Order: sequence, then structure tokens, then C-alpha cells
Amino acid sequence: MRCPRLLPGLLLPLLLPRPTRAPAVGAAPFAPTWESLDARPLPEWFDQAKFGVFIHWGVYSVPSFGSEWFWWYWQNQKIPKYVAFMKDNYPPDFKYVDFGPLFTAKFFNASQWADILQASGAKYVVLTSKHHEGFTLWGSEFSWNWNAVDEGPKRDVVKELELAVRKETNLHFGLYYSLFEWFHPLFLEDKSSSFHAQKFPTAKMLPELYELVNKYQPEVLWADGDGGAPDSYWNSTGFLAWLYNESPVRDTVVTNDRWGDGCICKHGGYYTCADRFRPGHLLLHKWENCMTIDKFSWGYRRDAGITDYLTIEELVKQLVETVAYGGNLLMNIGPTLDGTISAVFEERLRQMGAWLKVNGEAIYGTHPWRFQNDTFTPNMWYTSKPKENLVYAIFFKWPISGQLVLAQPDALPGRTEVKLLGHGAPLSWTSLKPSGVTVQLPQLSIHQLPSRWGWALKLTNMI
Ligand SMILES: *[C@@H]1O[C@H](CO)[C@@H](O)[C@H](O)[C@H]1NC(C)=O
Ligand SMILES: *[C@@H]1O[C@H](CO)[C@@H](O)[C@H](O)[C@H]1NC(C)=O
Ligand SMILES: *[C@@H]1O[C@H](CO)[C@@H](O)[C@H](O)[C@H]1NC(C)=O
Repeated sequence: MRCPRLLPGLLLPLLLPRPTRAPAVGAAPFAPTWESLDARPLPEWFDQAKFGVFIHWGVYSVPSFGSEWFWWYWQNQKIPKYVAFMKDNYPPDFKYVDFGPLFTAKFFNASQWADILQASGAKYVVLTSKHHEGFTLWGSEFSWNWNAVDEGPKRDVVKELELAVRKETNLHFGLYYSLFEWFHPLFLEDKSSSFHAQKFPTAKMLPELYELVNKYQPEVLWADGDGGAPDSYWNSTGFLAWLYNESPVRDTVVTNDRWGDGCICKHGGYYTCADRFRPGHLLLHKWENCMTIDKFSWGYRRDAGITDYLTIEELVKQLVETVAYGGNLLMNIGPTLDGTISAVFEERLRQMGAWLKVNGEAIYGTHPWRFQNDTFTPNMWYTSKPKENLVYAIFFKWPISGQLVLAQPDALPGRTEVKLLGHGAPLSWTSLKPSGVTVQLPQLSIHQLPSRWGWALKLTNMI
């Protein structure tokens, strides 16, 4: 896959939006309009981070059956599988809110989560502070008796994770927040007025967002769930202007694009476009592929079988493809109602970290290259560090011949150096006509390979 031909040095500055004008000293630089907000440059740390972990945890983790959309599927859609599950396992008058006290988080230890997050190689974490069910993982003043301090854990889960992540890891701390709530009476009332009334945003969503940002200072604010309402209903631009101008995280916070009907892939900070978004080509606007290790659910499911989870090979490939196309990967896990991270999720996270420990140089802080993948060798992906004149080629199939063909980069005799990350010794190469190189990989036994699941070549002084 090839991007429009530009000189390599010229390509990168064009990738990210630039501020259109310098703000006057002392003035609020951002106006509550998309034109102004969309022109805010994305804080640099986010593009460099490349890899984050998403955590879906809430009252849906109690039934932990089917999907985190459990409540909706059971009581609104009345999907037979969910209706039967409730009929078979709970008394007839059992309500979704009765799951609240059962959400005990008995074994939740934020330090253990922090340890796993650090080991995963992720540079940020995004926790669902509130999903569409409305239950807040912090003691929201606007979510009476439907929050983790009054009900269930009886602990401020957001605070505990925030402190552990900030104290014990080098990850940036982020929060997901669902704007709408499936069954909130004020939201339903506003909806019946075709969103002319704004009772729900005024009484619930906006106060909660201000509270969340002031109390926990998230550096990613991951909005979701517009409920079919326009951003003017949510007053998103007013809130974002405050977030960017005045909030305690104004300089470092990044946001996504889910701020009202029609905003996705168009307005806000970076683009998410769709769940599990894989554009298949380079995007010029910063984007993120949010996806789940469990192919069918974001929340934990007791009914998941081993083939429902993506393998580490699949996950590493998706990370590499995403980064080559200019995106970040936000990889989701769903903890259990007890607050534990299941062994499958923990293993995938630690495996990713083990791979990144050797190959992270080809991922973190890189930029897309002139080409995103090789035209000759399938499934070989490129990243680059233009300032250091470095190109990385990441591949997943070790050729039997030991010879790897790279059709795009051209070598400079006497100047080009090729190394395998984690191996060290320079490799020999020969130029191909009309372009490209053949690299002779070292002869290594399986025990000597620097990593499993994929390898990276570091090419210095290529053209
Ligand atoms: C929480 O986990 C940490 C790190 O694994 C451990 O040192 C600590 O003792 C645990 N705390 C509790 C209360 O179990
Ligand atoms: C919406 O945002 C504007 C700032 O642009 C603010 O003046 C107004 O009070 C906000 N409305 C609500 C309902 O919070
Ligand atoms: C890479 O590029 C080639 C040629 O541009 C294309 O045909 C191929 O499908 C691409 N993708 C992968 C995964 O190799």
C-alpha cells in the first residue's frame, strides 16, 4: 500500500493537523466551535505512544454473559439467549439493578493491574468510568446509589486505578465515558422531545464530565454513546472548549471523535471511526483502532471459549499494521466481577510486552514511511524515524532460504546498515534491480531467535 508520492522529509509534517493561528496571550485559544477545536494540535505523546489498553468493567461484569450490552439485549431487544439466561438463573422479579450489590470487586488490587499494564508495553490505559448502563466506577455526585462507592465495591475504583497507574507505571491515565444512558428517565424524556429539551446533559452528563476531569485528570477522554443526539444537545463544543482552555489537563489531554451524532471520523481529537477500525491504508489524520482480545465482547464473558480470543500472533500483526498506517492500537480486556484479570487476558498482555521489549524500537515514536507495506514480500510492514534516517521493516514469516526481499528501500553502498532487532550484528545485503534489497538473515535456532511472533529489521541510511 502506497501513499501519494512525496519526498520523505516533507511527508511527515503534513500528517498531523496544525494550529491555524497562534492564540493571543492570555486569551482563551479555543472557541466552542468545531472549526476552532478541530484545529488544536494533538498533544505529541499520543502519536508516540502507539499502544494502549482499554478496560471494560462495570455491572455487566456480574452476569458476564454474552456482552456488556446485556441489559439492553435482555430488556429492550429481548434477545432469547439473554431472556433464557435470566429465566434459568435468577428469580422472576430480579432486575438489572439487583446486579449492583453483586459487583463486589472482592479481589480488585489496582497495584496488580498496574503491574500487568506496565508489563504489556502499553503507554496508556483507558478505563470505562461509566458505560451505557449508567453505573459510575467513581462516587459520582450525580449518580445517586448507582455508583461504585455507594454500591457493589464500595470503593472509588477510578481513584485506586488512577493512583496505581500514576505511581507505579509510566502509562498515561485515560477514561472512557458514555454520554447517554439506555434507560435514564431524563435521557428518555429528552429523546421524546427529539432532543429539544436538554435535561439529561444539564443535570447528569455535563456535571459528571466536569467532575471526572477535575477529580481524576484523565489524559485521554474517550467519549462514546451519543444516543442518536447531535453534539449541540450534548453541548460538546462548550465542554471541549473548557477542556482545552481551562481544565487541569488542557495541555496534555487527548480526546476522540464520538461527541454527538455525525461527529465520528470528522470532529474532535483523533479519529476512531468505528469499533475495530482498520482503514487498510494510511490516514492523514491521527486515528486509533479500538478492538477487543475477545472477538465478541468488550465486557468479560464467562461463556467465552479459547477460540473466541485473538491469538498473540493475530494481536502483534494488528498492532504492526495499525502503526504502519499511522494509527494507535487500543486493545481491550474485560476484568471479572471480582476485579481479577483472567489468565488469558494477562497472558496476551504480557506476551505483547515481551514482543515490544525487543521490537518496541520499531513501534514507539515512529512515523509512517513512504510505503506502508512491501509490494513483494507479503505481510511485511514499514515504519520510520526520519530524523535519524531509520526505516524499520517488520515481518512475520522467516523465509526458509534465509533471504528476505524488501522491494521498496534502496541501499547506499558503503553507508547502509541492516540489523535484526535483538540480534545486534550487522547483516549482509545485496541491491536489487531496479530497486530494493535482499537481506541475508542470520542462521539462528529457535532458541536464539530474539523474539517470537514477528521480527524487525532496522535499516540505517536507506533511501
Ligand atoms: C496488591 O498487589 C501488590 C502487588 O502485587 C501486593 O504487593 C499487595 O500486597 C497486594 N495488596 C493486597 C491488599 O493484597
Ligand atoms: C454549554 O457550553 C457553553 C459554553 O460554550 C456554556 O456557556 C453553557 O452554559 C453550556 N450549557 C450547559 C447546558 O451546560
Ligand atoms: C501490501 O501491498 C501490496 C501491493 O501494494 C498489496 O497487494 C497487499 O495486499 C498489501 N497488504 C499486505 C498485507 O501485504
